[in-house]
Amino acid sequence: MEQSLEALIEEARTAFAAAADPTALADAKARFVGREGELTRKMKQLGALTGEAKATAGRALNAAKQAIEALLTARQEAIEHAELEQRLAAEAIDVTLPGRGLGAGGLHPVTLTIARIEAIFRSIGFDVADGPEIEEDFFNFTALNTPENHPARSMHDTFYVDGTDDQGRGLLLRTHTSPMQIRYARTHRPPIRVIAPGKTYRVDSDATHSPMFHQFEGLWIDTNVSFADLKSVYVDFLHQFFERDDIDVRFRPSYFPFTEPSAEIDMRFADGPLRGRWLEISGAGQVHPNVVRNIGLDPEIFIGFAFGSGIERLAMLRHGISDLRLFYDNDLRFLRQFRD
Ligand code: DAH
Repeated sequence: MEQSLEALIEEARTAFAAAADPTALADAKARFVGREGELTRKMKQLGALTGEAKATAGRALNAAKQAIEALLTARQEAIEHAELEQRLAAEAIDVTLPGRGLGAGGLHPVTLTIARIEAIFRSIGFDVADGPEIEEDFFNFTALNTPENHPARSMHDTFYVDGTDDQGRGLLLRTHTSPMQIRYARTHRPPIRVIAPGKTYRVDSDATHSPMFHQFEGLWIDTNVSFADLKSVYVDFLHQFFERDDIDVRFRPSYFPFTEPSAEIDMRFADGPLRGRWLEISGAGQVHPNVVRNIGLDPEIFIGFAFGSGIERLAMLRHGISDLRLFYDNDLRFLRQFRD
């Protein structure tokens, strides 16, 4: 019996060593110490013995069982360890590799231009306001001294929105940022100094017009401002925006329903590819007394000046871009050039 037990232990050692994974090891285990296993079978045979022989055989069997179980545990640990090693090797992360990220991305040139305009106007004490793109007919036209059937309404090719707001008022995509004059001035007390940049919409599309474009509105209301103040602020803005002083600016008489008198602001560079050509960049004017009244202020006391400028236009002049549509084609070769 001694002899065959040792052989059995050796057999188990070989079988366990051959088991490469937990399932194979479980099978091997069953062969020796399982219910039907070799050792269990030998234990059952003890019943046939008696006295000293039985005790000796029992001790030997117990020792063999312990030996086999120790082998089993050792093999189990070895398999687990090997599996862990394998996983660590397979899942290893090389923390020294450079990242594969998608790149940092960048802001759109129009967004950068807006940020630039805001920074300049903030630095001279203007607030920055934001308002809705789906606008009430009232704010876009009526309150700006352009009642229904006023011929000036046809100056803008308007996108109308089906339906009305909850009070039955007509809706449209704002054709300019001027409604922000009314919205802001109704909720703030003079002195008012604000710009309102944002998207505007008109039925129009060619190399210099996009159905969606950007403007920024400026409004300055106080008891003692003048056209000279407006002019100095705007000229100073242009010098800062273009980072050059050799810019001529002229205010050319024009017509807008919400200003009286009204002007078109033109500028020209003394040098560069556009040298000497007058370029129209903004509408402006003294806020019409009717508009001052619509805001809820007395035009005998308060005087206002306003301007509304095209943002793409300024960006195109600053960067030498000839086609407005480039801003909206989403061609990365174009967009990448504007990481300020
Ligand atoms: N809202 C006008 C437009 O889009 C531009 C404009 C003209 C704005 C005169 C003004 C202004 O504030 O005073 O055509």
